[in-house]
Amino acid sequence: MATTRAIRIHETGGPEVLRWEEVEVGEPGPGQVLLEHSAIGLNFIDTYHRSGLYPMGLPGVLGREAAGTVTAVGEGVEGITVGQRAAYPMVAGSYAERRLIDADLLVPLPDGIEERTAAAMMLKGLTAHYLLRRTYEVKPGETILFHAAAGGVGLIACQWARHLGATVIGTVGSPEKAELAKAHGCHHTILYREENFVERVRELTDGAGVPVVYDSVGKDTFEGSLDCLSPRGLLVSFGQASGAIPPFSINILAGKGSLFVTRPTLATFIARREDLRAAAAELFERVLAGDIRIQVPQTYPLAEAERAHRDLEGRRTSGSTVLVP
Ligand SMILES: NC(=O)c1ccc[n+]([C@@H]2O[C@H](COP(=O)([O-])OP(=O)(O)OC[C@H]3O[C@@H](n4cnc5c(N)ncnc54)[C@H](OP(=O)(O)O)[C@@H]3O)[C@@H](O)[C@H]2O)c1
Repeated sequence: MATTRAIRIHETGGPEVLRWEEVEVGEPGPGQVLLEHSAIGLNFIDTYHRSGLYPMGLPGVLGREAAGTVTAVGEGVEGITVGQRAAYPMVAGSYAERRLIDADLLVPLPDGIEERTAAAMMLKGLTAHYLLRRTYEVKPGETILFHAAAGGVGLIACQWARHLGATVIGTVGSPEKAELAKAHGCHHTILYREENFVERVRELTDGAGVPVVYDSVGKDTFEGSLDCLSPRGLLVSFGQASGAIPPFSINILAGKGSLFVTRPTLATFIARREDLRAAAAELFERVLAGDIRIQVPQTYPLAEAERAHRDLEGRRTSGSTVLVP
């Protein structure tokens, strides 16, 4: 039986529950392929699975994103061949040297997109795509607020929003992150650990507020984000890096100007294979055209995923992080 080394958890908890172990892989069944990973994307959602905030089967291999090369193909697989380079977002069990995966969940990589780049951008870039293009369609001339602008999703989304013609206000945790966000599409940055971001957004918009706020910080920014919106504005709450938003009365949306709130997830937007492929094609196009630059400021050996989790949760990373098997 073929095996692989993988980062597994047997119980939920802090980064110390991550274990580097030998795990069985098996042969590809009908519709499956064996993918040899060369780069694995680190995502904040991995920390939610590890901590137990989002449930997962135990014991289980962490991670949801990787890129690599197909080394074996099961019965009935069409359009994917041995030797092909491919990547995937939002499929559980990516913190491993190799894995079995349904061929339908893979996106073949075009020439010009390296595997490390793919692992850094598939989940985060497709998230940016559905946020800016499908959840609220950002239009030229609009001003938007994007929290955690120097993060993995943030740096991609800010470049994409600027490309769409928006003025981008981004919140960031440090002056160094402010510089990075400005170099990746942000017109204005706010140090939200020091400054009142609601007041600054009001100042920057001459009191009008913004039509949309993209908020993945959650608990710490929720109320303030509502206060940054113009009447009938939309809060897109897509993450909770600072903790879960406590239950709230829906009536506060009336008092603050007939607001909308949505809580979307990438899984909904790429559930159909054609949606996954179409969104990925748009992302590749923007990256290959140079409108969106994907950098990988941090890489860690996969075996050291524990250290990567500590740095991500400690707000010490910026942009994308890749784990190398
Ligand atoms: N719903 C979806 O479909 C979807 C898909 C992908 C990602 N997400 C969410 O999008 C967010 C970004 O994901 P990512 O992987 O790119 O992570 P990331 O943005 O690189 O890392 C999270 C960032 O959040 C900020 N932050 C604010 N308060 C924090 C706190 N108390 N603890 C830790 N970080 C805090 C930090 O930036 P500063 O230091 O600048 O504050 C930190 O770097 C996450 O919340 C994730 O869950 C959602």
